[in-house]
Amino acid sequence: MSKHPTTGPPSVRDAFAALGTPRGRQDPYPLYEQIRAHGSAVWLKPGRLVVVGYEDCAKALRDNRLHVQDARSYDATSPGWRAHSSLRAFTSSMLYSNPPDHTRLRTVVNFAFTPPKIHRLHSVIEEMTDRLLDRMAALDAVDSPVDLIGEFASRLPVAVISTMIGFPEADQVWFRDMASAVAVSTDGLGDTAALEQADTAMDEMSSYFAELVAHRRKAPRDDLITLLTASHDNERLAHDELMGTLMVLLTAGFETTSFLIGHGAMLALDRPDLAERLRGEEDFARRYVEEILRYEPPVHVTSRRAVEGIELLGTPVPAGTRLTLILAAANRDPRRFAEPGRFDPDRRDNKPLSFGAGGHFCLGAPLARLEAAIALPRLFARFPGLAASSPPVYRDRWVVRGLDTFPVAVGA
Ligand code: HEM
Repeated sequence: MSKHPTTGPPSVRDAFAALGTPRGRQDPYPLYEQIRAHGSAVWLKPGRLVVVGYEDCAKALRDNRLHVQDARSYDATSPGWRAHSSLRAFTSSMLYSNPPDHTRLRTVVNFAFTPPKIHRLHSVIEEMTDRLLDRMAALDAVDSPVDLIGEFASRLPVAVISTMIGFPEADQVWFRDMASAVAVSTDGLGDTAALEQADTAMDEMSSYFAELVAHRRKAPRDDLITLLTASHDNERLAHDELMGTLMVLLTAGFETTSFLIGHGAMLALDRPDLAERLRGEEDFARRYVEEILRYEPPVHVTSRRAVEGIELLGTPVPAGTRLTLILAAANRDPRRFAEPGRFDPDRRDNKPLSFGAGGHFCLGAPLARLEAAIALPRLFARFPGLAASSPPVYRDRWVVRGLDTFPVAVGA
């Protein structure tokens, strides 16, 4: 820990500022090490603590005196945010709520995401994967290379979550594109043009959701829309909370899982021994997925705010302090992981912080793990000749970081 809230050494500020540049976003890992050289938790400036150590991040995530950003904190820091429908939707969801609202919002859908419930989706996910692989083979025959992200990695999570929620199959790609546009709003109020696009997409999706809700009210089904509609009708969920829950289930799950699958494919295409083990070794995929989560996590960073003055991580943290928790840096903490810069699926006791920890621990973690553990072995088994046609391109974002495109020759 650097000493009390004095201004941090310039290189911490420089490294942190560089994370906001296109170059920093392309490869943030050296910048994390520059920050770590100053400590596990360092003051960027008074009121702003950056945490890169594994134990400290884990402690902060589990400390309920730290809150996530919610409507009240937005009111204090960003007047005018309520004019943005995209931000209003997210702040009405569990991801942007604190107890007691958080507990109520999470309880409504929690039981649908437990490991036994998710395990029952195994054969459905296998079928969806195989259908997408058939489609890739057909596309490759007509026009090679094929974009592995657009045609496979991003389609599977959308297909799975859309089926769970109850969206018609024909609309899934539309949802993917709209949800991507809305998710940009989670990067903050800085980019006005992107926020306007996010609001337009949100308004279109809200009308669409409203129609579906009205439809399920008349003709209930075994899906999440029906469940949420019933929760709204018996007054457990307000209208905005219903929309927020639908939005967060759609957006929190699909880009992240798409990046997990994309990173997994990229790493195995670089290392034929790993592709071989994915094809042939029972239980390897589970360990492989855990190591991708550690080494190339789709979510790099989250934040918390101290609602009262507290003693934390060995330092007094005044009320109102904002903590930036860099999960991707925690996953490469040399005090927790031997040779953290080496990709090693055989690593023991591999417990990355990629899904967070504590009260907001990722609701979809069992689902994301299962999708990637099914998708990757099937991809490499079906296309043993799969090869990169050109290098993958990272999207220019920091918080949720992953591949935008990855052209491959399928070799079917
Ligand atoms: C590899 C894929 C995924 C990653 C890396 C990931 C990561 C995360 C992280 C880090 C958080 C905690 C944020 C915080 O504490 O501030 C979170 C929360 C959440 N995730 Fe995921 N996620 C993934 C997939 C999914 C999927 C598939 C779903 C659902 C279908 C999902 C739904 C959620 C929800 C609803 C929350 C909020 C939980 C709460 O606030 O109580 N995620 N996720």
